[in-house]
Amino acid sequence: MPGRSATHIPDQSGRSAVVTGANSGIGYVTARELARRGASVTLACRSAARGRAAVIRLRAEVPGAWVEFLPLDLADLASVREFAAAYGQRHTALDLLINNAGVMALPYGRTADGFETQLGVNHLGHFALTGLLLPRLRAAAPGARIVNVSSGFHVLGRIDPDDADLADVGGEHGYRRWIAYGRSKTANLLFTHELSRRFTAAGSPIIAVAAHPGYASSNLHSGASKLEGPTFISRLAALGDAVLAQPTSSGALPTLHAATAPGVRPDAFIGPRFGWRGAPARSWRAGWTLDDTTGELLWAASERLTGVSYAALPR
Ligand SMILES: NC(=O)c1ccc[n+]([C@@H]2O[C@H](COP(=O)([O-])OP(=O)(O)OC[C@H]3O[C@@H](n4cnc5c(N)ncnc54)[C@H](OP(=O)(O)O)[C@@H]3O)[C@@H](O)[C@H]2O)c1
Repeated sequence: MPGRSATHIPDQSGRSAVVTGANSGIGYVTARELARRGASVTLACRSAARGRAAVIRLRAEVPGAWVEFLPLDLADLASVREFAAAYGQRHTALDLLINNAGVMALPYGRTADGFETQLGVNHLGHFALTGLLLPRLRAAAPGARIVNVSSGFHVLGRIDPDDADLADVGGEHGYRRWIAYGRSKTANLLFTHELSRRFTAAGSPIIAVAAHPGYASSNLHSGASKLEGPTFISRLAALGDAVLAQPTSSGALPTLHAATAPGVRPDAFIGPRFGWRGAPARSWRAGWTLDDTTGELLWAASERLTGVSYAALPR
């Protein structure tokens, strides 16, 4: 993106977008700015109250915006399937899928399907959602994109292809919340990498890219303290948010760039130029997020665990 504001987003009229976790933080700003540029935007949120409130707020901020709420809980594969079916009934095509929703460093927990929560929500839920929406993405005009929102913190955890139980490595006893967050964000990048390889092999015009917001003020850092009360780390994070974080509007720019800027290459990783803040630019990523073998193994495990098969995108 040539500048530092959302005003550089190309016209999105006639395009449709789904943004997960669109009721707050980076997801909300992403949805709002896509709608401002003319896209029809579906806010995919787990709370009906928060999703509807976001629709009202967005319409007030962008009069005339086409925006709707549909329920999506990424911690429950039944909900992911219901969302995809509902979207498919209402829309014939999907131009932009923004896999933004996320949780960070939560105490140990499991999704409805028994996956460790961070991997379950941040990766497996989005893996299932993307596979189920693929027919609508394929029905879009050339230029459809999938943006997976990862994090610079992917460096905290790598995926080990030898882990017998990828969805719950070590179980509760061996759980380390930051390593689990890092693994889920590494999974976002490996998923983008493998998706890109498969789209290229299939001759598909769909592009898969990844983005990260650097360090942006949002609700993400307070998620754990909501569940277990304030801790030293959560107080430190609140202080960091107040002093160091860039505004959410800036944090959303890498995602918006990845979704809409001309010339973005498949499997690009877009983040702030200076790591935690700055204009969107190509971002550093750990070498393991580009490993073909791990990407393929993660893909196979994700298909097995979610029961969602990408039959149209064989290896
Ligand atoms: N902010 C940063 O500095 C930063 C840095 C690196 C990466 N990121 C990434 O940026 C993305 C957006 O985070 P944010 O900073 O904007 O945080 P946020 O304000 O907490 O937004 C996260 C969104 O995800 C939603 N969500 C959580 N669990 C969900 C589930 N099971 N199903 C559906 N939606 C769910 C939340 O819904 P509720 O409101 O209902 O909880 C919320 O809308 C995340 O992927 C995060 O990992 C953020």
